Amino acid sequence: MEIHLWRELLDPYALAVDELVTKFNHIIDEYRHAGEYSPIELVTGRVKTISSILEKAQKKGISLEDVENNIDDIAGIRIICQFVEDIYKVVDIIKKRSDMTVRQEKDYINNMKKSGYRSYHLIVDYAVETLKGRKQLQVEIQIRTLAMNFWATIEHSLQYKYKQNMPENIRERLTSAAEAVLQLDREMSLVRHEIMEAQKSFTIKANMVSDILNNIQNLYKVADKQEVVRIQDEFFRIYQNGDHNELAKFSRDLDLISARYRAQSLR
Ligand code: GTP
Ligand code: MG
Repeated sequence: MEIHLWRELLDPYALAVDELVTKFNHIIDEYRHAGEYSPIELVTGRVKTISSILEKAQKKGISLEDVENNIDDIAGIRIICQFVEDIYKVVDIIKKRSDMTVRQEKDYINNMKKSGYRSYHLIVDYAVETLKGRKQLQVEIQIRTLAMNFWATIEHSLQYKYKQNMPENIRERLTSAAEAVLQLDREMSLVRHEIMEAQKSFTIKANMVSDILNNIQNLYKVADKQEVVRIQDEFFRIYQNGDHNELAKFSRDLDLISARYRAQSLR
């Protein structure tokens, strides 16, 4: 296989990764704009490097012609959540989508690997449009918590460093660290509701402030300047006061004022 064929092979996978990262980021946006807690904290993606593909093909005895069928993680998406509960929510969201179909599912959360590794894995079928037409390909989606991701990242580097010969004492430390991660996720789940509430009210406040400032800016173009300055001063006073209800009322009143101006300008 020549170098330009690799590019031809990998380009659609790069497109799939870009599209999926964008789509999952939009899910985060949708939640935040609705003032809701997002089960997805962050999303990353990568296309497997040629050297890792070659290494895997060699290790598994896969011929280069069969790479696409037999290596299912050429395109990889990683979805990081705050809480274990969020992982199952994300799996649900993915299963309901019409632009991807789950072909394989592995729950290493309830069935921790011997190494201590935990994550939820999906292999999905996903189609991209290329110059040659529609191309169906496989994408691996790994869903895990921040804590699981921390462990997996460290363990992966150590695996890479030691290959098959990881010293016993390091293996033991990783095992006990995996136990600590399990415990950490459990502890965090116990305060999940409080954290979700706090984050939700943070998002609602951020959305509200952004609406208010938008309204003030628009009013500045059409309303009496002194009046707008008065409104802005009033906003700063309420904002500094920190009373959520007062801010909400101010925002509603300002919406009414803005609506009135809009109605006037339409006449
Ligand atoms: P491969 O695709 O060949 O790896 O085998 P598989 O399909 O049985 O893999 P599995 O679903 O178990 O794992 C796929 C991916 O999950 C790997 O490529 C890693 O990114 C990750 N993974 C699995 N096990 C471990 C582990 O013990 N430690 C770390 N750090 N990552 C793991
Ligand atoms: Mg795999």
